[in-house]
Amino acid sequence: KLKKEQINILVVGLNNSGKSTIVNHFKNPEEKSLVTVPTVGFSVEKFQNQGVNFTAFDMSGAGRYRSLWEHHFKSSQGIVFVIDSSDRMRLVVVKDELDTLLHHPDIVDRKVPILLFANKMDTPEALSSVKIAAALGLEKIKDKPWHISSSNALTGDGLQDGVQWLVQQIR
Ligand code: GTP
Repeated sequence: KLKKEQINILVVGLNNSGKSTIVNHFKNPEEKSLVTVPTVGFSVEKFQNQGVNFTAFDMSGAGRYRSLWEHHFKSSQGIVFVIDSSDRMRLVVVKDELDTLLHHPDIVDRKVPILLFANKMDTPEALSSVKIAAALGLEKIKDKPWHISSSNALTGDGLQDGVQWLVQQIR
């Protein structure tokens, strides 16, 4: 029997952007958390999708824990960067954290694919993924594959398309 492919992904983004809710969506019904609480440090989650075994490092987005993200850059084959599309006030902080990630020595020279979820697209204040892409200057990323998907982690809208793109990039 063929061994299932194993992919490590890193899930980052500011606190309250929806990272844990997104990861939870992909887990089996019996393994799903009924409530998501702010992540402390990080949590390691496993799920299957498209015949791939995923190990997701769901990092806390709280300011005091963001320095932990970089420890997992090297071992990650894909980055999932989650943005709260309705949190216009913190879009500059999002850009700062994204730029720090992109310039990190463990990322900068690699063609690691970056999937961005413009999450909470269901909220009235949500910016479109096009506007978010412009605000973050994504067009300047020329040396890595990247993709931005609007998502609603509560219903799952947009999540599967995003992860499908990510798997295509890694395979
Ligand atoms: P930290 O662990 O603190 O870094 O947060 P997180 O990014 O893991 O966020 P979490 O998944 O805990 O979600 C934060 C809040 O946003 C929760 O109340 C979720 O129910 C809510 N939420 C997540 N995704 C969506 C979405 O797409 N739409 C709406 N309306 N709410 C969402």
